[in-house]
Amino acid sequence: MALRASAARKTLGNWFRVGKSMAVGGLGHRQARGLQTFSLPDLPYDYGALEPAISAEIMQLHHQKHHQTYITNYNKALEQLDEAVNKGETAKVVHLQSAIKFNGGGHVNHSIFWKNLKPIAEGGGEPPHSALGWAIDQNFGSLETLIQKINAEGAALQGSGWVWLALDKEAKKLRVETTANQDPLITKGTNFIPLLGIDVWEHAYYLQYKNVRPDYLKNIWNVINWKYAIEVYGNEVA
Ligand SMILES: [Fe+2]
Repeated sequence: MALRASAARKTLGNWFRVGKSMAVGGLGHRQARGLQTFSLPDLPYDYGALEPAISAEIMQLHHQKHHQTYITNYNKALEQLDEAVNKGETAKVVHLQSAIKFNGGGHVNHSIFWKNLKPIAEGGGEPPHSALGWAIDQNFGSLETLIQKINAEGAALQGSGWVWLALDKEAKKLRVETTANQDPLITKGTNFIPLLGIDVWEHAYYLQYKNVRPDYLKNIWNVINWKYAIEVYGNEVA
């Protein structure tokens, strides 16, 4: 199937170790002497399976071009870091931190984002029940109020970034958080666990929604995979 979200590796967001003679399928044939590098994860659904909420064209570009670019640049930065560490080049090590944060963050965030989405026919958009449903009611009053809050904060986020439904493990509370650029949620604190992350970069919606980010945010709830959030929440609070 032409639009099937196939990539070089079946594993979702996993690294694999590059041996001396092992080719890196989705990333060309780079070798890195035991350095852990990353490959583009497959999507668990077809590119067109989230329509009409998100078009196949957006999904394909977003996955194959944007996410792939973060991975490619993250791998490059890791290799440069490895070299700089081995040579004791501290200034170079420090210099590489921004590329690692941006591209590594892009890989982390998109790997979560794909799992946060699900076709309607497979249960996308079905509201959460169980312990997470209770926690949402307790923390925000209702699911509708939570969605309004996420949409408002996502729409108000200046420039590019992400809006999250987070579990604050220390406070044992759910929170709505935003991060700029490709900063992953952990940059707000290691106590924050991402349950849902919504990409509000223009590349996530512009081809379909133009500059109307609120419409994208409104429609994305039809394909949100609450089962994923329930699972993560259940594992963290167990
Ligand atoms: Fe994105």
